[in-house]
Amino acid sequence: MTLKTKLTYSIIFVFGHVALAQNYEAKVDSLMKLMTLQEKIGQTVMYSGSWDQTGPIVGTDNAKYIREGNMGAMLNAFTVKGTYDLQKVAVEETRLGIPLLFGYDVIHGHRTIFPINLGMAASWDLKMIEESSRISAEEASAEGLHWTFSPMVDIARDPRWGRISEGSGEDVYLASQIAKAYVKGYQGDDLSKHNTILACAKHFVGYGAAQAGRDYHTVNMGEGELRNVYLPPFKAAVDAGVETFMSAFNELNGVPTSGNKFTLRDILQEEWGFKGFVVSDYTSINEMILHGFAKDSTDAARIGMNAGVDMDMMGSVYRKHLKELVEEGKVDEAIVNDACRRILLAKFKLGLFDDPYRYIDEKREAETKYKPEFLSKAREIAAASSVLLQNKNNVLPLSKETKSIAFIGPLVKDEYDILGNWAAKGDRKGKAVSVFEGVLEYLKPNQIMYAKGCDILKDDESGFSEAITISKKADVIVLVMGEGHHMSGEAASRTNLKIPGIQPKLIQKIREANPDKKIILVLMNGRPINLSDEVNLVDAILEVWFPGTMGGAATADILFGAYNPSGKLTVTFPRNVGQVPIYYNMKNTGRPIPDNNPTEDYKSNYIDSPNSPLFVFGHGLSYTTFKYADFTLSSHTLSFSDTLKASVVVSNTGGFDGYEVVQLYIHDKVGSVTRPVKELKGFQKIFLKKGESKTVTFILTAEDLKFYNSEMNYTVEHGEFEIAIAPSSDFKFKNSFILE
Ligand code: NOJ
Repeated sequence: MTLKTKLTYSIIFVFGHVALAQNYEAKVDSLMKLMTLQEKIGQTVMYSGSWDQTGPIVGTDNAKYIREGNMGAMLNAFTVKGTYDLQKVAVEETRLGIPLLFGYDVIHGHRTIFPINLGMAASWDLKMIEESSRISAEEASAEGLHWTFSPMVDIARDPRWGRISEGSGEDVYLASQIAKAYVKGYQGDDLSKHNTILACAKHFVGYGAAQAGRDYHTVNMGEGELRNVYLPPFKAAVDAGVETFMSAFNELNGVPTSGNKFTLRDILQEEWGFKGFVVSDYTSINEMILHGFAKDSTDAARIGMNAGVDMDMMGSVYRKHLKELVEEGKVDEAIVNDACRRILLAKFKLGLFDDPYRYIDEKREAETKYKPEFLSKAREIAAASSVLLQNKNNVLPLSKETKSIAFIGPLVKDEYDILGNWAAKGDRKGKAVSVFEGVLEYLKPNQIMYAKGCDILKDDESGFSEAITISKKADVIVLVMGEGHHMSGEAASRTNLKIPGIQPKLIQKIREANPDKKIILVLMNGRPINLSDEVNLVDAILEVWFPGTMGGAATADILFGAYNPSGKLTVTFPRNVGQVPIYYNMKNTGRPIPDNNPTEDYKSNYIDSPNSPLFVFGHGLSYTTFKYADFTLSSHTLSFSDTLKASVVVSNTGGFDGYEVVQLYIHDKVGSVTRPVKELKGFQKIFLKKGESKTVTFILTAEDLKFYNSEMNYTVEHGEFEIAIAPSSDFKFKNSFILE
C-alpha cells in the first residue's frame, strides 16, 4: 500500500472510531463526506473484466474508469493475480483509494462443481446445500472474489424455461428453506472473514413466470400470486441476512423489474427493511428502452436509480447520465447517496477498508481449489441429489459381478456437459469424473463395453449399429443420455421436452434388439424431461441432473448400491409439453375430475392426455421400501396461540439401509381467496436401517397457515385444514383439523 492510501484509510479509521468500533454506518458516513458526487456515482457502476489465460486483463477502459473513480465493482474478474492488478489501481491510483468489489456467478460451485441447483434441491438436504455454498465461498474467496450472484431463488413451474435448472423448483416452502441455506453457506457467520462472500438473491422478481417459458419474456400475475408464491423465497433470503439482491430482466404487470418501485422500494426496502444493495441484471436497466418503458438511456438511468437499483451492471447508464440527472433535479442526490452508502457498507462489512487485499493470497489460492474434502463432499452431494424415477423389478442396484455391461450414449465418457451450465471455473477437462471413469471403481475393464451411439443433438445414426451390437453381447445395458449443458440455463428455453436429438430413437432400437434385457437409463439434464415413451422402453431411470465434478463417481456409487438413492423431485415431470405449466399445488377448479367417475364429461380435463403428471413433486424411489403408519394428531383443533403435533411412524421394510424424505402437506379447504389443493409445510430427511422404525413428528402453528388474502394482508383464517404426512405429493387426504 502506498503512503497516500494508508493515509486515506487512517482518516476513515479515525472517523469510524469516533463512533463505535464496528459501526460501519458511521464509517460510511465519514467516507462519504470526503466524496464528490461523481465519486459516489462511481460506486454504483460495475463492469466486466476481459479475460486472458490467467485472469482478467486490466483493459484500457476498465483501468481508466477505475482510476477516475468511475467504477465501484467488477464481474468476471478473479484469480489472485487478476484481482490484485485491478485492486491496486483502485487503491493506489484513485483519490480516495476505495477498494473494488469483485463479483462472479458462482452458482453451484466455483472450482469443485456440485450438481446443478435443481439437482441439489432434490436432496432435500439443507445441511448439504449449505455445505456446498460454504465450499463455493472458500474456493471463490481464495481467488479474490467477494461476491457471488447466487442463490437464484426464482420459483419455476415451467420446464420449458431453461433457468429452471438454476433454482430449487416449484415449491414455495422448500425453495424458501433452501434460499436460507445458500445464504448462510456463502456469507457464513462473519462477513469480515476472508473466506466468506456476499450472497445475492436473484432475480427480483417473477422471472421464473415468463410467458410460455421463453426467457426474458413478459410476466403478468396478480399481487396475490406474487406475494404467496414468488416473493417468499426472497423474503426468506432477507431473513437469512442476504446482503445483496439482483433485479430481473422481465417486466412484471407492465413495469420492468429493474425500474419497479413497487417491488424494490415498497416491498423490499419498506416492508422488509432490506439494508443491503440491489444490482441490476446485465444491462437490464438499458433494456427498459426496448421494453417500451424508458425513452432513452438517460431516462432508463433515471427510472432505475429512482426505483431502487443501486448498481448498474454493464449498462454504463449510471456512469454516463446520473450526474446530469442529479444536476437537473430528476434524481434526488439523496437517492444516489443512499445507493452509494449501501454499496460502501458492504465493502466495510467485508473488511475491505481494513485491508483491500485481504482476499488476495497466492498460497491460499493454491491450497484451496479442489481440496480432497471438497471433492468427497461433491461426490456425496451428487449421490444425494440423484433421483431414482423408476426401478422395475428392482433391476438396480447392479451387481459388481455382472459379466458384461454395455455403456451406451453420448454422455458415458463426458467430462464437459456433466458440470452443467454456469459451472464457474470448474475445469471441464481433466478434473471432472465421467460415468465411465466412475464405474471403473466397481468393474474391471473386461466387464465393460462402450459405444457412444450418437451425439446429443446431431442426427447422424452411423454409431447405432456398434451400439446395438454391443448391447446384444451384454448382460445389462446402461444408457447415459440427456441434454447438453448449454440446453438449460440462461437463454436456453425449449418447446420440446423430449430427450434431444436421435437419442430416443437409439433407445427404441436398443430395446427392439434386446426385448428381455435389463436396460437402465441414466439421465443428465437441467429440467423436467418428457419421459412418456422411455418409461415403457427401459426398466430403470436414474435422474442425475448435471451432477458436477464428481458426478460420474456418484452415479457409479448408486448404480452399484454403495449409495442408496434418496433424492426426490422438487419439480413435476409432465407427460407432455401440453400439460405445462403443471405443478402439485395447483388450485382446484369448479369442475375437477370426479374420483368416482374419471371420464365424466364437462370436467376440467384434456381429451388427449390425463391431467396427472408422469412423475409427481416429491417422487423418488429407494432401493429399500418405507411404510408409513399410525398417523396421529395431538388434537383435532388448533388455536391461534397453540401448536399442533402431527406424527407418523416410518419403517424401513426393505433390504437396504436408507434415507427417506418425509413430507408434511396441508390443504386449507375454504378461504376468502382459494387455496392450493396441497401445500408442503414441512419435511424431514431421516435415516433408517433395515427393519428400523422412527416416529417423525411435525409441529404446526397458526403462523404456518398464513397467506396473503385479497386485501394483501398476511393472515390466517378459521376453518378446516386437511393434513397428511406422505412420501410424495401423490396421496389423498384422510385427516383434518379445525383452526379455531
Ligand atoms: C445475467 C444473468 O441473468 C444473471 O443471473 C447473472 O448473474 C448475470 N448475467 C451476470 O453474469
